[in-house]
Amino acid sequence: MLAPEAERNIARARAPEPQTMSSSDSISHAASAEDASGGPRRLAIVTGASAGIGAAFAERLARDAYDLVLVARRRDRLDALAERLVRAHERRVEVLVADLGSDDGVRAVEARIAAEPSLELVVNNAGFGTSGAFVDLDRDAEADEVRLNVLALLRLTHAAVAAMQPRGHGSVINVSSLAGFQPAPFNATYAATKAFVNSFTQAVSEELRGTGVRLQLLCPGFTRTEFQEVAGVRTDDLPEFAWMSAEAVVEISLEALRRGELLVIPGGGNKVIGALFRAMPNSVARRLGAALLRRTLAGS
Ligand SMILES: NC(=O)c1ccc[n+]([C@@H]2O[C@H](COP(=O)([O-])OP(=O)(O)OC[C@H]3O[C@@H](n4cnc5c(N)ncnc54)[C@H](OP(=O)(O)O)[C@@H]3O)[C@@H](O)[C@H]2O)c1
Repeated sequence: MLAPEAERNIARARAPEPQTMSSSDSISHAASAEDASGGPRRLAIVTGASAGIGAAFAERLARDAYDLVLVARRRDRLDALAERLVRAHERRVEVLVADLGSDDGVRAVEARIAAEPSLELVVNNAGFGTSGAFVDLDRDAEADEVRLNVLALLRLTHAAVAAMQPRGHGSVINVSSLAGFQPAPFNATYAATKAFVNSFTQAVSEELRGTGVRLQLLCPGFTRTEFQEVAGVRTDDLPEFAWMSAEAVVEISLEALRRGELLVIPGGGNKVIGALFRAMPNSVARRLGAALLRRTLAGS
C-alpha cells in the first residue's frame, strides 16, 4: 500500500488501450517549477524502461533526484517500476505506454518532450536485435528493428534537441552498441542500425558544440538483460568476465555525462574490443565476425 503522496506521484493510465498503443495520463497533481527539496525540477525521459539498461537508468536517475517519464510497451512492468521508484525516492514518475515502432507511439513521446519545460535528459535506449542469416529472417521484423533502433531514435533526438537548444541546456544519451563499429554477419541489421546511431550521434553532437546541449553515444558490450533472449542469441559459451551488469553500464554512462564525454564504452574489456574493432580492416572484421557470430545462433 503506497502513502497518499506516493499515490499522487504516479501517473496511471486509465484510458482503454488505444490501437496505436500509446497512452499516458497527465501527472495528477499540479506541476511546480520546484521539487520537494526546493531545487529546480529536473525531468528525464527514458525509453525502453520496462527492462534491462532502461530500467537501470530509471532507478539511478530517480536516486539522482530526477522526475521521470518511463516509456515502453509493457504497462505492468512500467507501473511496477514507477511504484517502486516513488516509494523509494519520492520522485514524480509518469508511465507512457508507447510502441516506438509505430508512428503514433513516437509522436506521443515527441509531444511529451515538447510539452515539458523541465526536461533535462532523454535516454534513447529502447532497442532490440535479431540474429541469423539475413535471408532467413522475417522481413517485417527486420524493418521493425530499423523503425525502432533508427527512426524512433532519430525523431526523439530531434524533438529533444529542438526543445533544449533554445534553453541552452539538456542532454541526450543514445544507447548504441559495440556491434555498431563493424559490419556483423548474422547480426547484419542490428549492427547496421547501431552503425547509424554511432555516425548520427557523433555528427549531431558536433553541430551542437557551444549550445549547452550535449549528446552521449553509449556503446555497451554484453550486458545481462533480456536482450540476448529477445534476439535469439546463445550466450552459454561466453565467459563470465565478458559480461557487465546494466547497473554498472548506467553508472559509467552517467558519470561520463557529468564530464561531458561523447563516446562512452563501459568496461575495460569492452574498451579494448572497441579499439580493436575500430582499428581492424573491414574485411578481417567481417570474416572474424562471421566465424564467431555463427556460433552464437540459437539452435547452432
Ligand atoms: N544487453 C546487451 O548485451 C546490449 C549490448 C549493447 C547494446 N545494447 C542496447 O541496449 C539497449 C537496451 O537493451 P537491453 O539490453 O536493456 O534489452 P532488454 O532488456 O530487452 O530491454 C529492451 C527495452 O526496449 C523496449 N522496447 C522494445 N521494443 C520496443 C518498442 N517497439 N517500443 C517501445 N519500447 C520497446 C522493451 O520494452 P517493452 O518490451 O516493454 O516494449 C525494453 O524495455 C538497446 O538499444 C540495445 O540495443 C544492449
